[in-house]
Amino acid sequence: MTRPIIKVKRLAYVRVSAPDLDEAESFLVQFGLRVATRTDSAVYLRGTDPEPPCYVLSQGAAEVTAIAFETDDAADLEAISKTDGASAIEKLDEPAGGQVVRLRDPNGMQVEIVHGQTPLEPLAAAPSHVLNVDGRRERQGPLPGVHPGPAHVRRLGHLVLESADPVSLYAWYHERFGLRKSDEVLLPGGGTQMRFAALDRGPEFVDHHVVGFQYALDEGTRVQHMAFEVGNLDDLMAGHHHLKAKKRRSVWGVGRHRYGGQIYDYWANPWGVIHEHWIDTDLVNEDTVPSDCEFADLEEYWGPPPSVSFVVSRWNWKAVRNLARLLAARLRAGRPRSAESPSH
Ligand SMILES: [Fe+2]
Repeated sequence: MTRPIIKVKRLAYVRVSAPDLDEAESFLVQFGLRVATRTDSAVYLRGTDPEPPCYVLSQGAAEVTAIAFETDDAADLEAISKTDGASAIEKLDEPAGGQVVRLRDPNGMQVEIVHGQTPLEPLAAAPSHVLNVDGRRERQGPLPGVHPGPAHVRRLGHLVLESADPVSLYAWYHERFGLRKSDEVLLPGGGTQMRFAALDRGPEFVDHHVVGFQYALDEGTRVQHMAFEVGNLDDLMAGHHHLKAKKRRSVWGVGRHRYGGQIYDYWANPWGVIHEHWIDTDLVNEDTVPSDCEFADLEEYWGPPPSVSFVVSRWNWKAVRNLARLLAARLRAGRPRSAESPSH
């Protein structure tokens, strides 16, 4: 296996554009992000963790226009700036400052490698309490601090990149940034439906995936969803009901994933761009042995089947053909109920 040029430290932020900034911001605040700063051209949103803003919203078509990873040191920026197609090291002229190297992945997605951004003061996280479960009786008296309202987003955790060739795309990210396969779901008849990839931090335990490389049924390219960690189960469920009360569009959840183990809840913004709340990920490190699973055999731990709009990002004849193949494989395997159940 090729030795990666650098090993990135974390997913730093996404840049997302939307046709109506006010409407987009309204969704994000109901989703549980907080506005950190505004400039003439963008709104910077953050979670309660002290990291710099993880969501940069600007005017434009409804899409994710860039993804960013933080590096450990300036030497990593230097190394990546010498790779084919990469920019020189530039000053990041934004509220959190820092330096950036920009490049484009094989599908044209802008990837920004950043270092030296200024952290923020942490905000109050979701109120927490021990649970009187599994025979434990540790919490006496009423639940403290559980309120209706938006979830408390802590941070950006992962995203899923869709393409017609997820294995090649994975290789590009692995070779440059050290992302490392944690598990894989295989398409009927061969090929990859989803390759989950984690940060490579050696012995340190990290989230099960920071990027999922997913086969796009329409064979297009995009960020299929972005996922944000929230506080705890009460926080996630309060957030769910808040978004429901605001008439936002649920596209999948609440449930618990087989791969990654997260309790998940997916919502579409007004233009269909999918945002996930999650808690409780599996953790992996350099000793974790990846597993492969046939798509037809994949079952989530629990939860409803996804909506069609979660499974198919855009309809074309390829999406119809490929979805029919997946459904047929699930039916052959005797799993009709969650026939379209994808990994995530
Ligand atoms: Fe996810």
